Amino acid sequence: MNHDNRERLIAEASKIRDINKRRKYLEAQRVSDEDIDGILDDVHYKTKGRDKFPRASKMKFTRDGLAMATGKAVAEYRTWKIRSQLGSVRKALDACAGIGGDTIAMALRWPVVAVEIDPEMIEVFRHNIEVYGLQNKVEVVQGDITKLVNDEGFKSSLSELDVIFFDPSRRGERGRTVKTEEYTPPLSFVEELLKICPNLCVKISPGTDLDRIRYNCDIEVISNRGEVKEVILWFGKLKLDQEKKTALATKLPEKVTMERTTPEIEVTQVKKYLFEPDPAYIKGRLIDTLAQQYELTQIHSKIAYLTGDELLRTPLLKTYEVLRVTGTEQDEINAILGELEIGRVDFKARGMSVDMRKIHEKIQGRGRRRGLVVFTMVGKNNAAIICRYA
Ligand SMILES: C[S@@+](CC[C@H](N)C(=O)[O-])C[C@H]1O[C@@H](n2cnc3c(N)ncnc32)[C@H](O)[C@@H]1O
Repeated sequence: MNHDNRERLIAEASKIRDINKRRKYLEAQRVSDEDIDGILDDVHYKTKGRDKFPRASKMKFTRDGLAMATGKAVAEYRTWKIRSQLGSVRKALDACAGIGGDTIAMALRWPVVAVEIDPEMIEVFRHNIEVYGLQNKVEVVQGDITKLVNDEGFKSSLSELDVIFFDPSRRGERGRTVKTEEYTPPLSFVEELLKICPNLCVKISPGTDLDRIRYNCDIEVISNRGEVKEVILWFGKLKLDQEKKTALATKLPEKVTMERTTPEIEVTQVKKYLFEPDPAYIKGRLIDTLAQQYELTQIHSKIAYLTGDELLRTPLLKTYEVLRVTGTEQDEINAILGELEIGRVDFKARGMSVDMRKIHEKIQGRGRRRGLVVFTMVGKNNAAIICRYA
């Protein structure tokens, strides 16, 4: 297949969201099975890549490399924070460079020594660094960081090192893992890295049980566009307060950060508005902090919904206007939706198990209005809270 034809097919297939339909489209264009797989990979890189990198169309990727790479928004936030904590940075070490997501963000600001073990990944990495014209800012080392930390020659290349960034592979022997000791290298490798430089920034999976992190570090959960992207452990001068471990949540792209506090929050009946916190604030357990900040109450001590009588506009909370609180009987919900003329219904469930497929089948509503049914616990009871988007 010639280059232009291939590019045309990639562009057309990229417009199709459904993966099976993409394949069917290519089959209908009489593309050979062998070419289909290659084109589908390129379509995947193009569509997923551009979510993370504005220059994705010029970059190279591998499936795993792209999945694990940090997107521009998050990587830039981290470099901003490193700079604001350290003042200036003379040199950074990227201990597990991957396809270069983090190295690129750092090298746009300061020199980086980047280590990567996988030769295929190194090739992709070098290409991506060139796409950003950063060859002179990055020293690429192919090798195993767990061995290099004991290599005198390598260590001497780290003079003037101000910060280490460590993003281990979250793929264990049996695939993706949230267990930090199954990472490669394992999380405990931070103990070796801290001997080289105390200012360390570690990216871990959002699925990690944060109570298991015993190190003396700040723990920050980061979301971008309403999705938790990662958890960061900040060591040394990257900590906000040397005297304590601080728990933080940050919502991007607005860059709104809060520190966790532990006030007592009252549990009350559902009020005029229901508020759903950003997922980074839920994962970081800053629900109480948000409640205190915005003078809200909870509807259940263990459920991440807040309630209040005033309409609030903040990126940290989705706001729903409460129309009715009822039981979870489908007929009753349908009757209320009809009465309220709600025919376009979205559903959410939190703190109670619900068969969403059945709910979609059985709860239909009637009318032209749009609304939302939230299945959750209010006090000790299961309830359906019927809302509209505020
Ligand atoms: C999560 S990815 C890094 C992604 C990178 N931060 C980015 O944004 O593109 C982890 C990388 O670490 C590499 N790696 C795993 N073990 C390593 C080791 N012992 N030494 C150096 N690199 C290693 C893997 O090959 C993989 O490319």
